[in-house]
Amino acid sequence: MTNFPHYMIREIFEQPQGLRATIAPRLDVNQGRVRLDDVRIGAAELRSLRRIHIVASGTSRHAGMAGQFMIEELAGVQVDVDYASEFEYRSPLVRPGELTILITQSGETGDTTGALREAKRKGSHTIAISNVEGSTIAREADGVIYTHAGPEISIASTKAFTAQIAALFLFALYLAQVREAIPEDRARYYIHELQRLPGKTEAVLKRAAECEALAQAYCKFDNFMFVGRAIHYPIAMDGALKLKEVSYIHAEGYPTGETKHGPIALIDEHLPVVVIATCDRSDAGSRLRYEKNLENIAGYKKQQGRVIAIATEGDSQIAARADHVVFIPDAPELLSPILEMVPLQLFAYYVAVKRGLDVDRPRNLVKSVTE
Ligand code: BG6
Repeated sequence: MTNFPHYMIREIFEQPQGLRATIAPRLDVNQGRVRLDDVRIGAAELRSLRRIHIVASGTSRHAGMAGQFMIEELAGVQVDVDYASEFEYRSPLVRPGELTILITQSGETGDTTGALREAKRKGSHTIAISNVEGSTIAREADGVIYTHAGPEISIASTKAFTAQIAALFLFALYLAQVREAIPEDRARYYIHELQRLPGKTEAVLKRAAECEALAQAYCKFDNFMFVGRAIHYPIAMDGALKLKEVSYIHAEGYPTGETKHGPIALIDEHLPVVVIATCDRSDAGSRLRYEKNLENIAGYKKQQGRVIAIATEGDSQIAARADHVVFIPDAPELLSPILEMVPLQLFAYYVAVKRGLDVDRPRNLVKSVTE
C-alpha cells in the first residue's frame, strides 16, 4: 500500500487484506468448520459454558457489542459487554468457569489488563482478541485469537476494528459448532459468506469518492447523530466515535428506536442523522427492523433533519426517503456490520481532512492508554 497521504486512509484501504489474513487460516472449508487452535479451552468447558463477559475499551468495546449478537444468536450463550474501565473497579459478578473475552488492538491497554487480571482472580476462563502478537494481554490470557490486520498506526482504529468483528464471528461460529448449536448447512453458508467478505469490502471501498463528496457537503456541521438497531447499533456508536476522534465534531451514537425518547428533540436542519438502514432480506428480523427504520427516517425528515442512509444494494425504497444513500453489498445480517463501517470510516476521515486537522494524531489522544 503506497502513496496514501495518511495512515488512517491507508489502513481503511488495507481492511480487505486484514480480513482475509484473519479469516482464511481459520476456515476448514472442506470440513465446513472453523478452526481456532489457540483458544486453549477444552470442548467440555465450552459446552458447559453458561455466561460470557466481553470487556474492552473504546472502539474495541464496540466490536464486543457486535460480538454479543453473534455469540447469542449462533451459540445460544448469554453475553454481557462492559467497559474495561468500569469492570475492574466494580467487583464484577463473574463466576468460576465463566468466560471473559478481552478485546484489545494493542494488547497493552491498562484498563483492559486490569480487567483481565480481575476476571482471572474470580476464576474465569479468559481469551484475548489482540492485533499484537506477544502483547501483555495476549500472553496473560488463557487463550488468544489474533487479528492479523497488520500494524495499526493511526490513533483512530479502523482495520483492527473490522478484523476484531471478524474474529468474534469466527469465535461465535466455532463455539456454536463445539456446542452443536448450528446445523451443518447453516455453518457452511456462513463459511462461504466469510470467504466473500474481503471482496465485498473492496466493493465498498470503491465508493470512497461518494463518501468524500458527503464529507465535502457536511464538513461544516457541528453536531451529528448516528443511529442503528440491533447489531448495527455498535456500528453507529463507532461511526460517531470515529468522527469525534478525528474531526472534533460532537457526534452521538444511539439505538434508532430509542431516538423518539428524547434525542429527536435535537434533530432539525442543523443536526444531520446517519441511519444504518441495511436489510438482509433472508432474515425476518432484519426485514422488520428495516421497515421501522423507514418510519424513523420519515420522522427525521418531518423535522427537517438531513438523513444520510447506509443501505443495501438493490434497495429501491430508501433513495426516495433519505437525502443521501451509500449502498453496500448484500450480506448476512451478522456480517453486514463490517461492510457498514467502511463508509463511516471514510466519512470521518474526509471530514477531518477537509477541516485541516491532524488525522493520524488527534489532539489529546494516544494509540494505547497503558496506565
Ligand atoms: C484508545 C484508542 O486510546 O484505546 C482507541 O484511541 C482504542 O482507538 C482504545 O479503541 C482501546 O485500545 P485497545 O488497544 O485496547 O484496543
